[in-house]
Amino acid sequence: MTAVATDAPVVIAPMRRRHLRGVVEIERQTNHRPWSHGLFAGELRMPTSRIYVVALVGSVVVGFGGVMLTTVEAHLTNVAVDPTQHRRGIGTRLMLVLMRGCIEREVDDVTLEVRLGNHAAQELYRRFGFAPGGIRPNYYADINEDALIMWAHDLRNDTTAARLATLESGLDGQLWTDGF
Ligand SMILES: CC(C)(COP(=O)(O)OP(=O)(O)OC[C@H]1O[C@@H](n2cnc3c(N)ncnc32)[C@H](O)[C@@H]1OP(=O)(O)O)[C@@H](O)C(=O)NCCC(=O)NCCS
Repeated sequence: MTAVATDAPVVIAPMRRRHLRGVVEIERQTNHRPWSHGLFAGELRMPTSRIYVVALVGSVVVGFGGVMLTTVEAHLTNVAVDPTQHRRGIGTRLMLVLMRGCIEREVDDVTLEVRLGNHAAQELYRRFGFAPGGIRPNYYADINEDALIMWAHDLRNDTTAARLATLESGLDGQLWTDGF
């Protein structure tokens, strides 16, 4: 993987096939059941029901995330950041763009599953208004771990808009481009 300075500017862009090599490399490092290149490519062939984005430093992928849309609900399928780039706001940038994408598509509620022991991700999601909604026992059977189900409700309200604006105000530089 190309080395990236940890202070280089990061921008979020739509995920394209040309990003998949970098996406799969991060996926391999961050997910115990990594999605394949083919699985991501399949997701990109369903743009009406999916939103997939990447975090880029220049042309290098340093993170990615996606949601699956079903009527007025959405399911956050994945968010991951290059382990050398954690804790510099990239997860926050990805979530901001995904949540705004959901709101633009008139989604009211978003849900996700996260490993019960994954406190880093849970804390990121909590900042975006997600709250625990139940447990799926042994959901990650290969590692013998339960999933915490989280929900963010009523996205299209002033509280969510204010929350997203506050989170964005803490970030430097440009958030989004569709020019890559
Ligand atoms: C979860 C993940 C996406 C966060 O990405 P990130 O770019 O490091 O997140 P950010 O820098 O935007 O962090 C935002 C906030 O989340 C929380 N957070 C992030 N990592 C944390 C950690 N290791 N411990 C505690 N809180 C953490 C903090 O509140 C943080 O704000 P702060 O740095 O001001 O304290 C990243 O750790 C990752 O890729 N993990 C592996 C993949 C994964 O678990 N994905 C979720 C699958 S459900």
